[in-house]
Amino acid sequence: MSEAPRVPIAILISGRGTNMISLVRASQDGRLHAHIRVVISNKADAPGLAAALELGIPTMVLNHKDFETREAFDTALADAIDGYGARFVALAGFMRVLTPAFLNRFPRRVLNIHPALLPSFPGVHAQRQALEYGAKLAGCTVHFVDEGTDTGPVVAQQAVEILDDDTEDSLSARILEVENRLYPQALDDVLCGRLRFSGRRVLREATEC
Ligand code: GAR
Repeated sequence: MSEAPRVPIAILISGRGTNMISLVRASQDGRLHAHIRVVISNKADAPGLAAALELGIPTMVLNHKDFETREAFDTALADAIDGYGARFVALAGFMRVLTPAFLNRFPRRVLNIHPALLPSFPGVHAQRQALEYGAKLAGCTVHFVDEGTDTGPVVAQQAVEILDDDTEDSLSARILEVENRLYPQALDDVLCGRLRFSGRRVLREATEC
């Protein structure tokens, strides 16, 4: 592990949290220059919450149904993240669209992973969309989050071949393995400042962390 400072981050989940676990493990073994301050779920029964606690990470539940508007939830979420001192946010299977009430608090500091080669197949059930379309390649994308649904600038992508006998489950499992490897690398590139913007293109700089 280099001695470069670690960025305090929050991870948001809604479910089982394999991507969250891979980020936590990468931070614990020195591949990711992050200090993971908290894992927040919008669902109290998300299995990833117990996994985070086992890994020694504080957790919090903020149920979107307790708020009257999307903006009220997003403001409370941003306040909670601030309260934990996090300066960057990684979405890891967080199934809520975020509004400017949240995004304006963390400009260019929110990253997401999506199980498709964007701009193909945004939104939910991306793997099913790829199969039903008849695509031969699927994959995953790490991207900055903007106000659209899976429309922000792309940081990293990796392709996964679609096999003739694939089901939604088998394809999702192969993509997930790739996601779990790609996300820590891409997040570390962002946190270490190895990337720069050229318009909406995200390009690699030769800097080391
Ligand atoms: C992952 O496949 C992730 O890419 C996807 O949800 C799954 C979460 O798995 N996210 C989206 O579809 C966001 N649009 P995990 O809880 O095991 O990390």
